[in-house]
Order: sequence, then structure tokens, then C-alpha cells
Amino acid sequence: MRKQQSFQWEALSVGVCYYPEQWDESLWRDDLRRMWAAGIRCIRIGEFAWSKVEPVEGQFTYDFFDRFLAVVAETEMKVIFGTPTATPPAWLTERYPEVLNCRQDGVPYRHGMRRHYNYNSPVYQRLSARIVEAFASHYAPHPSVVGWQIDNEINCETGDFYSESDTAAFRVFLREKYGSLDELNRAWGTVFWNQTYTEWEEIYVPRTTIHNSTNPHQVLDYIRFVSDSAVRFCKMQSDIVRRYCKPGDFITTNGLFGHLDNHRMMDEALDVYTYDSYPNFAFCMKEDPLHADNLNDRRWSQHLTEVRSVCPHFGIMEQQSGALGWNTRMESPAPKPGQLTLWAMQSVAHGADYVSFFRWRTSVMGTEMYWHGILDYDNRDNRKLREVQAFADRLHNLRELAGAEYEAAFALVKDYDNDWDAELDAWHRRLTWQSEEEIFIAAQLAHTPMDILYLLDSTETAELLRYPVLFCPHSLILTEERAALLRDYVEQGGTLVIGARTGQKDGTGQCVMAPMPGLLAGATGTTVAEGTFVGPADGTVCMDWDGRELDTGVYNEVLTPTEPETRVLARYTGNYYAGEPALTERRLGKGKVLHFGGSFTRETVLAFLNSLNLSEPWGDLLTLPADCELCVRRKGETRLFFVLNYAATPQTVTLHAPLTDAETGEGVEGDVVLKPYEVKIFRN
Ligand code: GAL
Repeated sequence: MRKQQSFQWEALSVGVCYYPEQWDESLWRDDLRRMWAAGIRCIRIGEFAWSKVEPVEGQFTYDFFDRFLAVVAETEMKVIFGTPTATPPAWLTERYPEVLNCRQDGVPYRHGMRRHYNYNSPVYQRLSARIVEAFASHYAPHPSVVGWQIDNEINCETGDFYSESDTAAFRVFLREKYGSLDELNRAWGTVFWNQTYTEWEEIYVPRTTIHNSTNPHQVLDYIRFVSDSAVRFCKMQSDIVRRYCKPGDFITTNGLFGHLDNHRMMDEALDVYTYDSYPNFAFCMKEDPLHADNLNDRRWSQHLTEVRSVCPHFGIMEQQSGALGWNTRMESPAPKPGQLTLWAMQSVAHGADYVSFFRWRTSVMGTEMYWHGILDYDNRDNRKLREVQAFADRLHNLRELAGAEYEAAFALVKDYDNDWDAELDAWHRRLTWQSEEEIFIAAQLAHTPMDILYLLDSTETAELLRYPVLFCPHSLILTEERAALLRDYVEQGGTLVIGARTGQKDGTGQCVMAPMPGLLAGATGTTVAEGTFVGPADGTVCMDWDGRELDTGVYNEVLTPTEPETRVLARYTGNYYAGEPALTERRLGKGKVLHFGGSFTRETVLAFLNSLNLSEPWGDLLTLPADCELCVRRKGETRLFFVLNYAATPQTVTLHAPLTDAETGEGVEGDVVLKPYEVKIFRN
């Protein structure tokens, strides 16, 4: 069982990111006054300001932030302080170039951007520990400071590390994991292509190879190693900060990035997790497959679902408030009137209890001068500020909602081994990424709130049993423990849906010599006769499920029932396996397993949701159009139904029973029209 998060906000509230070092001091007082007037009650500062405290190696001066905090202390504004390790000073990288991260070919990333350091350099660890100690010991006692952010966006910009320090630390990591080279050679299958290692010094973090086709088992361990390094770096800092925190202060960091076990980082180093939400990123993705579905910014609900799995009552450290862009990349439109509020409410609807906008004012300098904040360069009041103020008023009104649980009807099961294996393995990636996205889209279209459940070493059956149905689409890597957990869930009453290629690999990422679905074959009552990608010449291969023709996706496995009680629910209707089983059901204990031989498309998932009674779970209460998302948060007996209109056109929601508008307190029933981008919140 995971430990509970150790900090929760008591009331919904609004904050903003502020960079006192980027502005003339004469602006501070007025900025704080205007923030307060807009309903902002907390600011995050300091995360890139190492040189303000240690301008020269070993010389510490606290005046700058002391002066700023003195101005803050004239108000009731609260402060989240960042540790400044994401941007090492020029003196540091010049004097100690070994702290730099490198490209895969060994060329160092230089001063001029950010996050150009590596986690494993002993010098960087020492100097980071010292600056964190300086920040925390001096500023944590200040009464305005209520929380700490470690570094900034750990593993953002890059989640790959190829410095010499990384190779040295990778060898230590592997020695601890495997003990001997024989074990390592076995786990990495190095007999293949004569890769056998005879000395630890022959081993490196993955280096440049033809087609970037490095040993897959090595790469999997490398990603595990990067995650381990990042978590240790974060914990090293939070252990220091914690020594100086006042009771009740919290430690967080802002995510969510790859090559990182965010759950472990949360459990070992943080009190609460925060996320940086920029839904307009979707508009920068030119090949966004969801474009046609108007699900662009709505895709962020998938990210927020992921965040909620890390930390159920999270905060948003950076909430988009303007157009996005660096001078070197990304061009996005400004949020249209109402969209800033829509996106902020999207966060709240998914479980955020604190929403801090990025940033107070757009920077007039540097790479991010087009990454717009609430105020523009001219510093005048504008429509975005008015939206922030109105949003803050709404949150104040709803403040007691803090801590309300998101209520999901089912969960998508994931784990880090499979996430990371799918990065290099194109066969794995194609299935997993597509199926996960299609499950999310189908849940959106069916207005079925869903969760993501990560299987961790600490996960127990009771955590799975919170959901009547689990979709576990393509767990290629399946260990004995995970298989036993899933089986136990079924025996105790759960419904498990698995897809193609489940159980194909062991924990090293090597394929197992057993019939599929490997360790779950005993539970599904099936084996897989054979499997194939569906090639372009095959067209769409479908299955017939109770008279419905449903697309079976990009990969198909032909199933063979092995137990008398295994029922064939659907058969393929195309390709050389037409007529063969595509979907089976087996009752086991108090539950059942559905074994689907394909990968998931939204139509197929919608059919699963229908047949499992998960579609429109609140349909008796309200009917929503496709352009609206439904989120449900529950506190005690009260449920809040967030209806979010992502469309540029008005949308009509029909309430089939009397509900209360959670903000005005008025009774509502029948048709309710939501304006473009409007969010309405009803309660029972
Ligand atoms: C975030 C980051 C901020 C700022 C923003 C805009 O990823 O945490 O510091 O850089 O993006 O680029």
C-alpha cells in the first residue's frame, strides 16, 4: 500500500509564478498589490536565481531575497521558494565542466540554456547541497514562506544523461543490481551480437550506435538508472530542506516528465506533487491525431489523470495564462476569452486544489519572451488579469471543495517497466501509446471519468479493487508479482481487460519461451496461437462482437481457449485468421478476465465500455454533448459535477433531475446552455 501524501491544501486557492530578479525593484510593491487584488494568495520565486545568493563561488549574500521578502511581509502573500539547481551559474560550469550533461556523442551542453547539468557529478551534488542548504537555512524560517519546490521540472528539456559521471554511476548501479558480470551478461542477453562484457569498465551509458539500435535490455536498465539518479538528486535536496522547514510547510516539485518514476519521487522525497499544465501545447503539435475531434486541449485531461495517480490531491505550479512560445520554437495562439478559465478549471476538475498561473508578467528578455504571462510587456490591466480575478473569485467560493476525491468509473493500468520498454521498442510503443490514447478518448466520448493506476512494488490488491474494471492493454513485461496481483484482483471480483502481446517479456525485457499471455495464461484460460501486425495491405481487420464489426487495431493475436469455461465473445472477420477467436471471457473466482487479441481503437473501447456498463455512468442525471467533458469530485455525501465545454460554440447539457449550481446555489434542471469554453459545476 502506498503511503498517503503528507500535505494537502485546506482550501482551494490561486497563486502565480514571479521572478523578482527579472524586474526593477521599484515594481515589486505594486506587483504584489495587484496580485492580491486579483485574488492571488501565493507566489513561487527563486528557482532560477542561484547567482543572487552565491554570485561567486563560496560567497553567500542573502540581501536580495531578504529585501524582497520584506516587501512580501507587508502583505499576507505566501511564498513557495524554489531551490535553484536547474540553472547552475556560469562560474560553476566554467570551473567544473564535469557537472555538464552531454549529448550522446559526448559533446557537453554548455551554459546559455538551462538544465545542462547531470545528477551524478560529485561536484554538482556537493555544490547543489551547499546552495540548497544556504537557501533553506536562511529563507525557510521566514513567516511568509510556506513551501519549497525542488529544482525545476526534473527531467524536463532532456531525460537523457551521457556524461562521464553518469557512466561511472551507471556502473555502480549495475554492480548493485547484478552483483556479477555473468548476471549482467545474462540479463542483457549480451551473447547476442557478441556484446559480452568482461570488465565493468567496458560498460557505458548507451553510446552512439548505428540506427540508434542499442541493446534493448541495456537501454531499459539505463532508463531505470536515470530515474534512480533523478529521484536521489531530488531526495538529497528535500532531506536538506526538511531540516529547516517550519511545521506545516511542504516540499514539492513540478512535473511531469519522462525517464522518471514520479511515484517513487513523490513517496521518497515530496509531501505533495505539483504539475505544470499548458493545454495549448496541443496546438503546437502539428500532427496531432486528435485534431479532428476537438480534443486538442482536452488531451491535457489525460496528463492530469496521470498526475492524479502520482498524488491524488495535487497542485498546479504553472497554469497556462497566455500564448506559448520561445524565440527559438513553438508558436501558439493566445487563449481565447474563457479558455484561460476553462484550462484552470480543467485542473481543478481533475483534482488540483491549488492553481498557480505562469507567470505574472511576460518576460521582456531571454528565450521565453514569447511565453506569455497574465500581464503583457506593457504591464497594463488586461482581459487575462480580469479572467484570473474572476477565476480566483470562483475558487474562493468553492474553497471547501479542497480534498474532494475524483470519482472514476474504471482505471487504465500502467507501470514504469512497460512505459520505459515502449520507448525504444517500436513494436511495443506502437501498441501501447495508441491503445492508451484511444482508451482515454473513448472514456471522454462516453463521459466516463477514468483514473490511471500504476502498478508499483507496493501495490496491493485492495488498491486495484477500488475499480470494478481495469484495462491493462499491453503489459508486455509481466513479472510473477504483477501477474499474481492482477489474478488476485480478478479472483476477488474485478474485471480485467487485457490486449495483444500481454506477458511477452520478463523483467529484463527479454521474450519468454512460453505460450502467450505468458504468466496470465492460467487466468485467461487461453493461449495465443500466433500474432501479427496488420500490414497496410491487410486493410482494417475487424471482429464480429454480437453482430457489431469492430476494428481490432494494428496488431492481432489469434486466441485459443484452453479451459472449458472460456467463452469466445468475438471472432475475426478478416485476414488469414477470419473466423478465429479475437475476444474471450473467462470467469475466475468472483471476477472475470476479457482477453482481447487486438490493440484498442476508440470504437472498440466504446464497445467494451458499453458491454461493461461503464458508458455514461451519470447518464440518469445528465446528458452531455461530445464536446463537453464530465469530471466528478466527491466530498462526503456531496458530489460536484464539472461540465467543461471545450468548443468554440455553445453546448447544451440536459439535467434529468434537479441539481444545484454549485457556485450560485440556485436549483437547475432541464436544458442548460454553456457558452463557448464555459465551465459549469453542479452539485447533488
Ligand atoms: C516550464 C518551466 C518554466 C517556464 C515555462 C515556459 O516548463 O517550468 O520555467 O520555462 O515552462 O517555457
